[in-house]
Amino acid sequence: MKEPHNKLFSINSYPRVRMRRNRMHEFSRRLVSENNLTVDDLIYPIFITYGLNKKEKINSMPGIYRFSLDRLETEIKYISSLNIPAIAFFPQTENKLKTSDGREAVNKNNLVCEAIRISKKVNPELGIICDVALDPYTDHGHDGVIIDNHIDNDKTLEILCQQSLIQAEAGCNIIAPSDMMDGRVGLIRDTLDKNGFINVQIMSYAVKYASAFYGPFRDAVGSSINLSNKSKNSYQMDPKNSDEALREIELDLNEGADMVIVKPGMPYLDIIHKVRENFKVPTYAYQVSGEYSMIKGAIDKGWFDEEKIIFESLIAFKRAGCSGIITYFAPYVAEILNNRKI
Ligand code: PBG
Repeated sequence: MKEPHNKLFSINSYPRVRMRRNRMHEFSRRLVSENNLTVDDLIYPIFITYGLNKKEKINSMPGIYRFSLDRLETEIKYISSLNIPAIAFFPQTENKLKTSDGREAVNKNNLVCEAIRISKKVNPELGIICDVALDPYTDHGHDGVIIDNHIDNDKTLEILCQQSLIQAEAGCNIIAPSDMMDGRVGLIRDTLDKNGFINVQIMSYAVKYASAFYGPFRDAVGSSINLSNKSKNSYQMDPKNSDEALREIELDLNEGADMVIVKPGMPYLDIIHKVRENFKVPTYAYQVSGEYSMIKGAIDKGWFDEEKIIFESLIAFKRAGCSGIITYFAPYVAEILNNRKI
């Protein structure tokens, strides 16, 4: 048997020791709580799309919309009013702009760059995070370029560096490489530094699993048709592995990552915990589209209490060791936290 946590207390504990005593009253539960969720923990992903006057529903993500750029200002003002610290942009690129090399990713006037400029004009204080990967821009739906039938790591890196640079030039605060190519963090850091962007941060999707939980997101950005039934297994991590995750984190930190992401979130709480214990660096979970849609779907069916299930799903990340969470529930949660009197 395992050694008791504290021998002194474990002998003849009951009835002197009653765990329920601290739980009896709300004031006491507040005093003993080990973790808390605050608005400062939230990052909100925003989908943007081409065209005008659009606020489109996303079928697989009830309650989440794609905004055309002319409708973005209102959304930025709303998120700012909630005091959410940062947003992350994800573009739905027009099909005719998708190519095998994903060159729209390096167009200085692409959707993401325009969105950054709009957001910075509306509220310069709102942090902006941008994905670096080619999947919204490639006609095959992969995160990198294909050469001789495989995703070519080093050719992809050249484009990713350029993509990072134009996003930084447009005003992005945090570059978030989500492509899982080897060596990208170091080269992106060098590119940013050489061009004077020494204070643009890198939040690396260091641990990104090849997950079925991204399904609804691929609908949202319109890449599921392009990707079809092909897999991202040659670059995203195998859900069977955990030591490998620590190695990925170590490499990205050595290459200059300021913050790291574990993605998806809920099925990988063990990984988050290990990362935090081992590296003590700012660690974020991405509660991805599939997690959102599962929870929201059951709420809409009346199977879960909305507020309780959402807060429970998010406090789990804090307990596991996260500094913050990228979540589609951010505005819902911020509304409630901001209206609490305590
Ligand atoms: C693109 C990217 C994906 C997500 C964020 N960035 C999908 C993927 O890798 O296929 C998923 C986010 C979500 O599911 O909410 N590289």
